[in-house]
Amino acid sequence: MNAQDRPVTPVNAPEGWTRSSWRGKPALQQPSYPDAAALEGVLAELQALPPLVTSWEVLALRRQLAEAEAGKRFILQGGDCAESFAECESGTISNRLKVLLQMSLVLVHGLRLPVVRIGRFAGQYAKPRSADMEERDGVSLPSYRGDFINAPEFTPEARTPDPRRMVKGHARSAMTMNFVRALIDGGFADLHHPEYWDLGWVARSPLAEEYQKMVDGIGDAVRFMETVTGSSIDSLNRVEFYTSHEALLLPYEEAMTRQVPRQWGWFNLSTHFPWIGMRTAQLDGAHVEYFRGIRNPIGVKLGPSVTPDQALRLAEALNPGNEPGRLVYIHRMGAGRVLEALPPLLEAMKREGRRVAWMCDPMHGNTETAASGYKTRRFENIRAEVEQAFDAHAAAGTRLAGVHLELTGENVTECTGGARELADADLARDYRSTVDPRLNYEQSLEIAMLIVRKQAQIAQPAPL
Ligand code: PEP
Ligand code: CO
Repeated sequence: MNAQDRPVTPVNAPEGWTRSSWRGKPALQQPSYPDAAALEGVLAELQALPPLVTSWEVLALRRQLAEAEAGKRFILQGGDCAESFAECESGTISNRLKVLLQMSLVLVHGLRLPVVRIGRFAGQYAKPRSADMEERDGVSLPSYRGDFINAPEFTPEARTPDPRRMVKGHARSAMTMNFVRALIDGGFADLHHPEYWDLGWVARSPLAEEYQKMVDGIGDAVRFMETVTGSSIDSLNRVEFYTSHEALLLPYEEAMTRQVPRQWGWFNLSTHFPWIGMRTAQLDGAHVEYFRGIRNPIGVKLGPSVTPDQALRLAEALNPGNEPGRLVYIHRMGAGRVLEALPPLLEAMKREGRRVAWMCDPMHGNTETAASGYKTRRFENIRAEVEQAFDAHAAAGTRLAGVHLELTGENVTECTGGARELADADLARDYRSTVDPRLNYEQSLEIAMLIVRKQAQIAQPAPL
């Protein structure tokens, strides 16, 4: 008997929920597949494939997010706006892991808190688009929606949604996870080996000295502790890494939603931490319906148009039991706007006693088109939004539990500004993103350092 033929009785699911109950609600941002039979075949195949993560990892992350909510951890979530199948290769994956590890080291050292590391990878292949169709020179074709769905080239073949891409995306996600897990198990994050912590091309950066001093200091502290205790601190090479992606393409997410032995409920086992994008967070929409039934921790992106009432009703729908570590609100308001748009949400959630971990995404409210025509973001706006988010939380008596960034470990030129003061004219030099502009390696490390400095200036509420 195939896995998809096995009778599955939904146990311990919320009232009226099944993993396909979202199909009865309006589902935005979904492709239309021309061949329904091919789609069904692919979904049956996916349902039988092994999961990418385990339920105990998902539950461990929930516990860590609950700690972050209580002020005992800081969350660093980062990676590409969209992964591409072509960039599923060793250099890109290891550089991205490296920059995230280095940023987390800066944060651990500066904030004196353990960091929850969450990559936007191993499944970040589906993108929401503002228009279903794209027109060029009088020709109209479906928009590129990410490698899970179609290909970016502007031809009818490339742009027609192909369900086989989901199987390929599952495989690429598995390869990415496998490599990340192997690197970490193999000592990639081992503080006994400072050579793994080097800065690559950033070694010539104005930030290099401060970073190097910190790494040397940590190395000395490790050696000191080992001398004092007479034993080696082996756990220093075992950092944890979690994965996340926008769970946009609901047929794929449904196929990866499973029950497991000795656990109640349903888990999305394609990732630890799926999130709902701003464009699909409608209370009566298919995404909220799907998410309310899974046990994973859930992220929701909140833009400046969200009202306090919507934030409260979303929390009621997605976290009716008001459990810690279940819900993460990722606000992305834009520099300047965050100071007006965020406080009413913070106050409403606080007043109603709704539990949530708050994170700041300083990327998606700060996208603009440069004079050169490139889609870009200014480093100073990204920085300003993070700093203003800290201020808004401090004023409201709530806590900023983490940041959500679009970044890469490569030396790209997609965002302007930063220590090297990249200008509009530099964007053309190495602009690679087919979607949103990312912080490069150096700009990412700089943001981590700025978070530490900002946090030292404001008084966050004491841990619960
Ligand atoms: C994203 O994180 O890439 C994204 C599309 O975010 P948002 O839904 O906030 O626009
Ligand atoms: Co993006």
